[in-house]
Amino acid sequence: MEFDVFTLLPEVFPPYLESSILQRARERGLIDIRLHNIRDWASDKHHVTDDEPYGGGGGMVMKAGPVFAAVESTLGPEAGCPVILLTPQGRVFSQKVAAELAAHPRLALVCGRYEGVDERIREHLVTDEISIGDYVLTGGELPAMILIDAVSRLLPGVLGDPGGAADDSHATGLLEYPHYTRPPEFRGWKVPDVLVSGNHAKIEKWRREQSLLRTLKRRPDLLANAPLSEKDQKYLKKLNESEPTS
Ligand code: ADE
Repeated sequence: MEFDVFTLLPEVFPPYLESSILQRARERGLIDIRLHNIRDWASDKHHVTDDEPYGGGGGMVMKAGPVFAAVESTLGPEAGCPVILLTPQGRVFSQKVAAELAAHPRLALVCGRYEGVDERIREHLVTDEISIGDYVLTGGELPAMILIDAVSRLLPGVLGDPGGAADDSHATGLLEYPHYTRPPEFRGWKVPDVLVSGNHAKIEKWRREQSLLRTLKRRPDLLANAPLSEKDQKYLKKLNESEPTS
């Protein structure tokens, strides 16, 4: 998977992208992240990338020229890949959106800064707009890194364990079950007996039930869209009867 990132702050990316799992994925050629400084495409001698908004008002607006030049000259006319603007006005990022994006061989990410971007970037250059949540950051750089991280770990070979992403919270439509590791007892708190029983069928059943219980308690909104078996529904009904939520 290739990522082309267009930003005014390329220096903020390497500390994160050159660590741990993403660094290993880069070394193994599974992902290629290319950082492009939009300022390099500003045509005037001071490399200006922002200007005052027409109509007045506070803040500065990211100019269309340098962004168009950066994206068009990097991607070329035939790229055909999604060009995604990171903005609080975009569709909200989720595990589902990450999976959808992971199916593309190449993604271009445009990081907004200042008060916003010239509307012509939205109308005539980008093909998609993504928000990482209903809050406003100072720029699209952190959102771009979040998107790269969430998409990359879905690509075959990026996580050491081939099934690694399959049980993740949200991948199944539910929150994930609790995890424990050694020691079996810590400060008097024991690992649930079932997990050390060696009985795989029982462990699977416990994990599924914990997943349902957690989702019911913490994110009941997710249950409406989660694929649930008859057994799951029976278990949820039992939970609701024993512990009414309202
Ligand atoms: N830029 C500023 N805030 C943002 C957000 N919540 N999501 C994506 N890009 C942003």
